[in-house]
Amino acid sequence: MTEIIDGNAVASEIRDDLTDAIETLADAGARPGLATVLMGDDPASQTYVNMKQRDCEEVGIESHHVDVDGDAPPEELFETIADLNDDPDIHGYIVQAPVPDHVDYRDVIRRVDPSKDVDGFHPENVGRLVAGDARFRPCTPHGVQKLLESANVEIEGKDVTIVGRSDIVGKPLANLLIQKAEDGNATVTVCHSRTDDLAAKTRSADIVVAAVGVPELIDGSMLAEGTVVIDVGVNRVDADTDKGYELVGDVDFESAKEKASAITPVPGGVGPMTRAMLLYNTVKAASLQED
Ligand code: GUN
Repeated sequence: MTEIIDGNAVASEIRDDLTDAIETLADAGARPGLATVLMGDDPASQTYVNMKQRDCEEVGIESHHVDVDGDAPPEELFETIADLNDDPDIHGYIVQAPVPDHVDYRDVIRRVDPSKDVDGFHPENVGRLVAGDARFRPCTPHGVQKLLESANVEIEGKDVTIVGRSDIVGKPLANLLIQKAEDGNATVTVCHSRTDDLAAKTRSADIVVAAVGVPELIDGSMLAEGTVVIDVGVNRVDADTDKGYELVGDVDFESAKEKASAITPVPGGVGPMTRAMLLYNTVKAASLQED
């Protein structure tokens, strides 16, 4: 039987565990505070930001939101960032990506105080992660690690193929999984759009992580029997639904399920974990700032 890994259930456990730590911090006068910043009005980003606000409420994190006009000059966003850096009630914040084309996201990230960078995107935090001394693990890779742990998937010595080399998922996850650590010690192959014979790389893997943003790219024919499949993709594809679209992953779930020993669904797999790990990083930021 293929195990369907329930990201909602694991995320719910993580939120429960965080609630105690949050109340302890609040009792000491430091209720954790998270801000979200959204520049522009991308509908998917608005949905994500709303969900992050709701998550905060549920666990007792104080949430704040700042909208920046999509046509504003970059300096307006930079001012918002400077204000958040100076605000002692904000322990962590994120600037939702993507930002409009006239703003370079790298310029944005460099301005974020690294101790408030709960996305883990600032160069200082990227460097620390690569050096094996992470302050904040980026939320999606950390969520993937927690899902593997929850499904009792052995990592050490295993072949992991990651499809996708993004700064947000593929690169940090590869770095985490190769580290000399209890949740590392894997052998990792990172594939991307220029990879020759992708199917050979996915077929030879014990664990496949799909994080490439191509709907249903990975199907059952590309997997060996017994593979653990983690689908990070969230793709909106046109469909005859109320909203006019449906969400599909980077994995063709039905055919992959026939081969996999365990697999995450979309939605309800990695997505809720990303959100839970943002709360985790916010609590960590608050704890570090109170020390
Ligand atoms: N856009 C898509 N994923 C993310 C994320 O993890 N953080 C931010 N800030 N923006 C995103």
